[in-house]
Amino acid sequence: MCGIIGVTGAADALDILLDGLERLEYRGYDSAGIALIDNQEIYRVRVADGTHSVATLRSSTANAPSVASTGIGHTRWATHGKPNEGNAHPHVDCAGHLALIHNGIIENYQELATTLVGQGHTIISATDTEVLAHLIEECLKSAATLPEAVRAALTMVRGAFAIGVIELSDPELIVAARKISPLIVGISGDASFLASDIPALLERTRDLMVIEDDQIVELRPGSIVVSDLDGKVVTPKPLHVMWDVEAAQKDGFDDFMTKEINEQPRVIADTLRGRITDQGAIILDQLNLSDDVLRSITNVTIVACGSSYHSGLVAKLAIERAARVAVEVDIASEYRYRDPVVSATTLVIGISQSGETIDTLQALRKAKALGGHVVVVSNVVDSSMAREADGVLYTRAGPEISVASTKAVVAQMVVLELFALHFATLRGTMTPDNVAQEISDLVGLEDAVATTLARDPAVAAVAKELIDARDFFFLGRHAGFPTALEGALKLKEISYLHAEGYAGGELKHGPLAVIEPGCIVVAIATGGEMREKILSNVSEVKARGATVVMLAEDGDSNAASLADYLLLVPATSPIVSPIKDIVPLQQLAYHLAVARGLDVDRPRNLAKTVTVE
Ligand code: F6R
Repeated sequence: MCGIIGVTGAADALDILLDGLERLEYRGYDSAGIALIDNQEIYRVRVADGTHSVATLRSSTANAPSVASTGIGHTRWATHGKPNEGNAHPHVDCAGHLALIHNGIIENYQELATTLVGQGHTIISATDTEVLAHLIEECLKSAATLPEAVRAALTMVRGAFAIGVIELSDPELIVAARKISPLIVGISGDASFLASDIPALLERTRDLMVIEDDQIVELRPGSIVVSDLDGKVVTPKPLHVMWDVEAAQKDGFDDFMTKEINEQPRVIADTLRGRITDQGAIILDQLNLSDDVLRSITNVTIVACGSSYHSGLVAKLAIERAARVAVEVDIASEYRYRDPVVSATTLVIGISQSGETIDTLQALRKAKALGGHVVVVSNVVDSSMAREADGVLYTRAGPEISVASTKAVVAQMVVLELFALHFATLRGTMTPDNVAQEISDLVGLEDAVATTLARDPAVAAVAKELIDARDFFFLGRHAGFPTALEGALKLKEISYLHAEGYAGGELKHGPLAVIEPGCIVVAIATGGEMREKILSNVSEVKARGATVVMLAEDGDSNAASLADYLLLVPATSPIVSPIKDIVPLQQLAYHLAVARGLDVDRPRNLAKTVTVE
């Protein structure tokens, strides 16, 4: 998730780039950079200053050439390579004649880099992006124009991208292209613009055009020509924007939480992108644990806090089932103060969206000091945990702004399921056919979650009926248990209602005593052999007067017949079901909080990153 912007034909090109980048910071903010064409040279400035990157870029460009009218800019949320100046965009080719910005993930960048190095190119950064600059430079040797070279280069690229390229031989031209990652363009007077997102351009124009997949754009002062990969000119879809900047930053949603919930299909696809080869092999390139070390592992401990802990509970089921290794999951603030048993064959996995949560960081330090192998699941490249761990599994959710974690949790579960399958393959505990089937179940989640999201009005209607409820019990078993815990946590943190998650089997061991008319029981009755047992629990709570919200799969008439309210999700393999089942529970929490007039993005008393005990 990065923000890109480009402009040509504007006397105040630098200001346009900097203002646009300021409005794109919510997409990424670990570093930022610009490149302008000035008098037969590329003037490039890049800085890595965390949340201050764009402000620092502004002060660092105080002496920029004032006459430059063509330029590109980028604000980065790292996916490949640390967030430092060298990895910041724009990237340039060997000759320094061409500069390029990119949002997305290039899946085959290592393959391309090997070929390009063989052809004499020097690749400096650790990004997946820089290869594109060299690939286009290489294609320019046989192509007559920059658009031709970009078109030729893109036929060799696999992955997701929105790019903008400038080159000295045609100083008023920007060539842009899109596959999967968003790209819009617009014109105002003599100036033509491109950007990843609407907020970047709103101050300049509200009349935009949406670029589709596999389209190439030539931007010149006051003119934009869009063509397909074969060079055929096409008419882009117009878009007139009525939103203000704040609404545009939220993609037109009312708040960041809804935006982030709705990003989950994209997040699933991005987290899997480039990690499964065409032959079905799993590549986790920053795991940094040799196959031999992984084969030698005798036990796994997962440490995390809050929602990340719930992802750990889902991962335990996946790893134990797939790789047949014992897994314990511990709350990091408990683990760090106990006397855990760790050996040279223990794998300790820390899970953290931020990579900075103090308890998880300290728990991992302890595990490392005791001689364990430490791997971190982090959404932030080069976070404290990522720096200190032996290996990292990055989630690719992009910046999560709402305090309540949604898309990052889903991404954690996805990457850990993939890790479980990788681990199982190495240990020979699953057949290749079973691994292939489960990979396809994971890939299918993108659609299942999209279908679930489209049912939001039905969830909103249930929330409306429950507006006066004060006590919620979420019941689940097996994979439904972590889902129940996470559903309850989401509800309590943003709606301030009393909510508890329980394993269904525990009901008779205490909680049943408090069930009475007025209690809402949310039953996770999806997938797997435990569904029937949850339905028995549902009968027990109904007999005591509880109102039941049933989360069930399409076509499950038994579950539907026991429900007072029904939340339906598409059927998937039970193994991956928590990843989609959590979605309607996020929506339920959201609608209840909104109905109570609360600020869902900034719940009281809570911070996004907990760096103190
Ligand atoms: C809940 C939530 C928190 C975090 C927890 C850990 O919605 O966001 O419970 O999951 O504070 O944070 P990270 O994952 O950054 O370590």
